[in-house]
Amino acid sequence: MSLLDKKNKINRKISVAPMMDCTDRHDRYFLRLISKNVMLYSEMIASKSAIHGDRKKILSYRIEEKPLALQVGGSDKKELVEVVKIAEDMGYDEVNLNLGCPSKKVQKNKFGACLMKEPNLVAECINAMINSCKIPITAKTRIGFDKVEDFDYLNEFINKLKLAGCNTFILHARKAILKGLSPKQNLNIPKLNYEMVYKIKEQNPDLEIIINGGISKIEEIKSHLKFSDGVMIGRAIYQNPYFLAEIENKIFNNNNVLSRSEIAEKLVSYVKEEVKKGTKINHIMRHTVGLYYGQSGANKWKRYLSENMMARDSDFQKVDHIMKIAQNNEKANQPSK
Ligand SMILES: Cc1cc2nc3c(=O)[nH]c(=O)nc-3n(C[C@H](O)[C@H](O)[C@H](O)COP(=O)(O)O)c2cc1C
Repeated sequence: MSLLDKKNKINRKISVAPMMDCTDRHDRYFLRLISKNVMLYSEMIASKSAIHGDRKKILSYRIEEKPLALQVGGSDKKELVEVVKIAEDMGYDEVNLNLGCPSKKVQKNKFGACLMKEPNLVAECINAMINSCKIPITAKTRIGFDKVEDFDYLNEFINKLKLAGCNTFILHARKAILKGLSPKQNLNIPKLNYEMVYKIKEQNPDLEIIINGGISKIEEIKSHLKFSDGVMIGRAIYQNPYFLAEIENKIFNNNNVLSRSEIAEKLVSYVKEEVKKGTKINHIMRHTVGLYYGQSGANKWKRYLSENMMARDSDFQKVDHIMKIAQNNEKANQPSK
């Protein structure tokens, strides 16, 4: 089933956030086994790496992961245009520009959240990216930075990018602190400000506004969808990937979701195919630790994975045993009669 509607418009009602070291191609394949309807994003790839790096390793993906966006970090117009062309050629459905990462390294290379200080430069980049391809170019940004948490500043920033041709904005509802906080602290401090995102949508009804930050429950998703066009979720899904099944059920009204043991079965086949191509088993299975989050048997699953599948040289034959754990867990989690 295609996830893009007749106008080839992407459905961004729910998406999984780009997360470095997390949303690589193996994680995305795994998440896609659970959810057919969410939009998926790559980890942030620096423009230079996309152009000069090992493209097969950094950018390849399986068709099953689609619809899929490539997230890029950069502020060099020429490089960004080149990345967009590469992404379009490779069949990515969207390119998203990272304007929200606060890390020192990213700031040094002049990309991420520090670009909120340079609306003209960002607008020029976005405009050039849009003019060089047919796929959508979107932006993911914070609601402010350092001392600036001001509706007018954010609104002006967004409107500048709108004039440059950008229609879809993912707003992480927390400002970035560029000096003095680590990237990890920047994910929890300062407080979230959802109202600012709602107000952006209210004042710019023609734009697609996706809200992000601290969202982890169905009721929260439903409530945000009243004031925004879509919800992006990061950590809650990485920690508890099967939350996506509940999302399929309760947000997309899809009752045809694989059980955890069916997913485990598909993982076994995936591991065997990938290992033949040279993938290390730990690169796949590390993303699946949370499959039984909150369920009976969660610890057994985690322990087996950590004792048998987290080393670079783990024996991939041991993957067959996860089916046994999955079947036992299924029995343990059946509602008692
Ligand atoms: C481990 C980790 C890595 C992240 N890497 C990226 C990234 O590559 N690009 C990006 O735009 N945001 C990145 N983020 C931020 C998330 O996309 C998201 O905006 C943030 O986690 C807030 O959403 P959440 O509360 O649902 O997790 C990262 C977050 C985490 C936890």
